[in-house]
Amino acid sequence: MIYLNDEEYVVCRKKQVEIFSFSGKPVPLVIKTIEWTPDQMEKGGYQHFMLKEIYEQGQAVSNTLENKIDHVQGIVNIPELAPHFEKLKQVSSISIVACGTARHAALVGKYYLEKFARVAADVDFGSEFRYRDPILNPKSWTLLISQSGETADTLAAQKESKLKGVPSLAICNVRESTLARESDVVIYTQAGPEIGVASTKAFTTQLVVLYLFAVQLGLLKGSLSEQQARELTSEVQKLPFLIENTLAMESKIEKLCTQLQKKNFFFFLGRDVNYPIALEGSLKLKEISYAHAEGYPAGEIKHGPIALIEKQVATLILSPQALSTEINPDPMSAVIYEKMMSNLQEIKSRGGMILSIGSGEDKKLQDQSDYYLGIPKTTWALNPILLTLPLQMIAYHIAVGRGTDVDKPRNLAKSVTVE
Ligand code: AGP
Repeated sequence: MIYLNDEEYVVCRKKQVEIFSFSGKPVPLVIKTIEWTPDQMEKGGYQHFMLKEIYEQGQAVSNTLENKIDHVQGIVNIPELAPHFEKLKQVSSISIVACGTARHAALVGKYYLEKFARVAADVDFGSEFRYRDPILNPKSWTLLISQSGETADTLAAQKESKLKGVPSLAICNVRESTLARESDVVIYTQAGPEIGVASTKAFTTQLVVLYLFAVQLGLLKGSLSEQQARELTSEVQKLPFLIENTLAMESKIEKLCTQLQKKNFFFFLGRDVNYPIALEGSLKLKEISYAHAEGYPAGEIKHGPIALIEKQVATLILSPQALSTEINPDPMSAVIYEKMMSNLQEIKSRGGMILSIGSGEDKKLQDQSDYYLGIPKTTWALNPILLTLPLQMIAYHIAVGRGTDVDKPRNLAKSVTVE
């Protein structure tokens, strides 16, 4: 007998599976076909599911883009949102709620929504949202992000927003999950099954959906012209190819990790839309390698954390440059780049080791750093997605080097179904 939730339980017999309510009444079974294939559930020659899932990201992103773009017009068109267009035109604020890695996607989503749709967005932890009696008005929406759709804190946040009469939109990877069933609108990421406890392809596909949603909302609200939306659509379609190019640096990363894994403390620093990726990089590293890691907005380190810098500390500086686009002709990259450079100097002068991740062959950044990795040059909005990939691979190789159980790290479960 297995408890399903706080109302029902399952009885598995040799030839029969039945569900009962706690009052003993049988619950009718509805048969649904899962689209995921058995091959997707195997390691397919990889040493770990996590590595396989890192490599599946190009395909996962391409599948996620597939039905959300009008390919004739060359512009974003998310069919799930079509029945809600009129309501979405009125939206004044969005509360994004999620946990862990999904919350880091939410933080990037805030930048997208505010830049493309000019809609105020705040981001909350699933475990905090309901305790602060959030101020939601009739034009607010709640956006819940979850790979599994079964995270108890995210579900509790959804319940809270329902009680307040606010429409809920979910970004979810698992069909028929509780979150998907309970939400007013669902946009699915098409990541396929994610088995490793460390979320990888679910995260990058969540970022893609957030990007597309922000562009769609920007169009509906008139804050983006069709021309701008077309340009953003065309840029995001290059992503699968850019992902493949970025993943090609794995052997370089593997070598680099033989040095990195000797360090006992890691800082991840980023600014602007790349700051949440510093948080994600540090979470990935700590959850699978058990190394102590912290992510910070780079400007904050002088307010305390810089006291920790010494020889044994490795700092990862996330400082890509951005291609200019019509919506973002000067993505402040020059200003931010220089600020990241002075953060780098502050750390260097205190003896800390530096690994920088920039765009292409960035000589200046390379010369100032102990180690350097270059991702393909892309736009402001796509930089966070590409930056994530080397950080996933760094976490993976440090963990393998330390001999931890990469796919099932200690004390962690794939889906946290208790509050
Ligand atoms: C990610 O690597 C973690 N294992 C964890 O933070 C996860 O993202 C979080 O528990 C939320 O899960 P969900 O996306 O299934 O809601």
